[in-house]
Amino acid sequence: MIIYKTEEEIECMKEANYIVAKILHELKEMIRPGIKTIELERYANKRIEEMEAKPAFKGYRGYPYSLCVSINEEIVHGIPSERKLKEGDIVSLDLGVYFRGYYGDAAITVGVGNISSESKKLLEVGKRALEIGISMAKEGNRISDISNAIQQFVEKNGFSVIRDFVGHGIGTSLHEDPQIPNFGPSGRGPRIKKGMVLAIEPMIAAGSHEVEILPDNWTAITKDRSRAAHFEHSVAVTNNGPLILSSLNREE
Ligand code: MF3
Ligand code: CO
Repeated sequence: MIIYKTEEEIECMKEANYIVAKILHELKEMIRPGIKTIELERYANKRIEEMEAKPAFKGYRGYPYSLCVSINEEIVHGIPSERKLKEGDIVSLDLGVYFRGYYGDAAITVGVGNISSESKKLLEVGKRALEIGISMAKEGNRISDISNAIQQFVEKNGFSVIRDFVGHGIGTSLHEDPQIPNFGPSGRGPRIKKGMVLAIEPMIAAGSHEVEILPDNWTAITKDRSRAAHFEHSVAVTNNGPLILSSLNREE
């Protein structure tokens, strides 16, 4: 069941998502060779508490931390650890919070120091795929128009779209209907309507889309060990089109 949000509820969701955007921005500034991924987790927890929010992922289906940190061939759900980031790595940071009744959820992928030109392209295509997906989140379209636009763009650029994970509605639950795949034919699924809030999250790989789960039962990696990127925004559908809630710019 899709839950439509009022303008007031969307205002509340802006607050939750602003907290996510702000912390992700601060984490991005901390990324450098030598930092342990558990240090990013600790910083995120400190900031979530300071901003009087709660972590959304900790305890979700037993996930042990607040942040997902996925390095190189890790696609999503990487677990923070003593592992140090190295020059040339790419790292995805995925964060969700709960604030005054609503969830916020977003993810970015960033390079550590200098990265290869293929990695740069992977990040650019991933980021642009998210923007293209967001631009399709407007009345008159259907959910799979988002999916199809993302797939077309990513494959045209020689990369593949991960098929085992989807974007989702978001609100008073972290995951609500509808599911938003990042591939498939256009013109299918629910009609996009004002009041929908959608977490759109393309995950792309430099090689094949096939996925494997590590023995930790969380970390998803590419089967061919090619590098992956993940970008996510929570977006409200309004009369004026898509509105990115997980943006640093509160005026947007
Ligand atoms: N952004 C991801 C999602 O919305 C993160 C969930 S990780 C989990 O599905 F730990 F909470 F499962
Ligand atoms: Co999400």
